[in-house]
Amino acid sequence: MKEFVCTITSNVEIVPGVNLAWLEAPHIAATAQPGQFVTLRCEDFILRRPLSIHQVNSGRVAFLFKVVGKGTLWLSQRQKGDRIDILGPLGKGFGIEAGSRNLLLLAGGIGISPLAFLAQHAAVQHSVRLIYGASTARELCPLSSLPSGVQFVPATEDGSMGRRGLVTDVLPDFLEWSDQLYACGPMGMYRAMSELACHSEAAEQPKNLTRGKAREESKLKKCQVSLEVRMGCGIGACYGCSINTKKGLKKVCHDGPVFELDDIIWGEVKI
Ligand SMILES: Cc1cc2nc3c(=O)[nH]c(=O)nc-3n(C[C@H](O)[C@H](O)[C@H](O)COP(=O)(O)OP(=O)(O)OC[C@H]3O[C@@H](n4cnc5c(N)ncnc54)[C@H](O)[C@@H]3O)c2cc1C
Ligand code: FES
Repeated sequence: MKEFVCTITSNVEIVPGVNLAWLEAPHIAATAQPGQFVTLRCEDFILRRPLSIHQVNSGRVAFLFKVVGKGTLWLSQRQKGDRIDILGPLGKGFGIEAGSRNLLLLAGGIGISPLAFLAQHAAVQHSVRLIYGASTARELCPLSSLPSGVQFVPATEDGSMGRRGLVTDVLPDFLEWSDQLYACGPMGMYRAMSELACHSEAAEQPKNLTRGKAREESKLKKCQVSLEVRMGCGIGACYGCSINTKKGLKKVCHDGPVFELDDIIWGEVKI
């Protein structure tokens, strides 16, 4: 993990409120693993802002970010040639178990950011299916970098593109096929997944699947999720991102952000 000053090569709004920024960052591009993140110094704010590594290509790194506050607004206004202070790569990313062939990726909204990198990386040796959901077609980011071998399954709540419904409504159709699951998205999605896939603390009963069938289909499925909690230092020094898991207290920035879904005690996670 190192600090670099990197030059922006492009920064465009690709769907309303979401920017794709590419930066020259050869050192980060050379070592980054899917699921890892960086922290960026935004203007003169004391706290750096964490962003997942979305793609790497020829010494450049891409970030896909939603404008939600003053840091990401400032970032969205940077232009080609501007320079930004970046620390990374940070944290522990996704892992693929030996013997896993079929990988199922579930992205909800901006959660596509780290999963596009995982798809890019994993498709070299694995069969990859990516379920990517948003409220409406307008909110689905174009994924031009997805390798052709990745089976892309869009889902929209209003049915304007792909399957109608939430990604967790589509998930049961792919559970049997998958050896390992990976997810990034909002809390509600994780809660629904933990009910469907990992037999963890239940939230709502999914509409289109009986509990018994879900459990039967999901036997022994492993599921890794990226937790995007609020962070302070981002480097394991302040304990500001600590969560209580079934394996004890963990720092999301240092021990994660990727965790086994089944290890999370959802009642204690504030995102
Ligand atoms: C490991 C990690 C990876 C992330 N990757 C991405 C990514 O690839 N793309 C992306 O768009 N965002 C990502 N985030 C979330 C991103 O860090 C926040 O959206 C950003 O820090 C907000 O900064 P801000 O100054 O714009 O907003 P602030 O002014 O700090 O906050 C504005 C609003 O955003 C909410 N918010 C702030 N931080 C977070 C957070 N960490 N998670 C959820 N909501 C938050 C606040 O509660 C508030 O409502 C990631 C977060 C983590 C921890
Ligand atoms: S943000 Fe400081 S320890 Fe994780």
